[in-house]
Amino acid sequence: MPRLGHAVILLGPPGAGKGTQAQRIAERYHLPHLSTGDMLRDNIQRDTELGRIAKPLMERGELVPDDIVIRMVEDRIAQPDCRNGFVFDGFPRTLAQADDLERICEKYKFGVTFVLHMVVDKDLLMRRLTGRRICKAGGHIYNVYDRPPKQEGICDLDGSELIHRPDDTERVISERLAAYERQTRPLADYYRARKQLSPVDAMAGADDVTSSIAKILDGVEAPR
Ligand code: AP5
Repeated sequence: MPRLGHAVILLGPPGAGKGTQAQRIAERYHLPHLSTGDMLRDNIQRDTELGRIAKPLMERGELVPDDIVIRMVEDRIAQPDCRNGFVFDGFPRTLAQADDLERICEKYKFGVTFVLHMVVDKDLLMRRLTGRRICKAGGHIYNVYDRPPKQEGICDLDGSELIHRPDDTERVISERLAAYERQTRPLADYYRARKQLSPVDAMAGADDVTSSIAKILDGVEAPR
């Protein structure tokens, strides 16, 4: 490894562990971790035009319009560090985004898109998301119930402040889960029909989930 030229997608509901696993896969296979949620939050923080459109939608737990997200993703994929492939966390999220990703991968001559379907019981998600804390500097992910930092509110790895994402409230989480069911879950059938979907048991502990994913990705053929 690394397998050159693959687009790896983590598909799963909010709280499935996409971000947690994407960070690990990116590190293991030396691929960039592309999180559309992080890109949008960065635009909000910089108060860009895109950020001003995205902010109220994200606060309500709704998806940002496809054309905005697709443009943002295509700009990112065109960067030289994506030449050998990348790991998507939170994209695609609609059938239109999946179709566009196929077009973009053809344009940039990426190999087969590889989709890891993080399968998890819905009842776990509220607890995972309300308990999540994220490091302000490096985006390292903690959980006050299951993976607390050594010192409350401080990242073990870089000492920066841990924050609670504003959309991790019960009300907004419910909206995000509903949006997933309505708009994103159909992608599992879309990729299954293309024989690109690999199910992953995302109920297991994070280290076991990483091992399952590595077993799948280590068996992937590099594109010719
Ligand atoms: P985004 O930032 O993508 O959020 P999300 O999809 O809701 O996913 P999360 O980041 O909440 O969860 P995750 O699966 O990454 O879980 P994590 O690893 O952190 O999107 C936010 C918003 O942006 C959307 O609502 C939308 O408005 C907009 N947006 C983004 N992309 C878009 C797109 N493509 N199109 C349109 N709009 C878009 O883990 C969660 C918690 O669980 C952590 O505390 C972690 O420590 C814990 N945990 C993880 N794995 C395990 C495990 N195996 N066992 C126990 N605990 C675990």
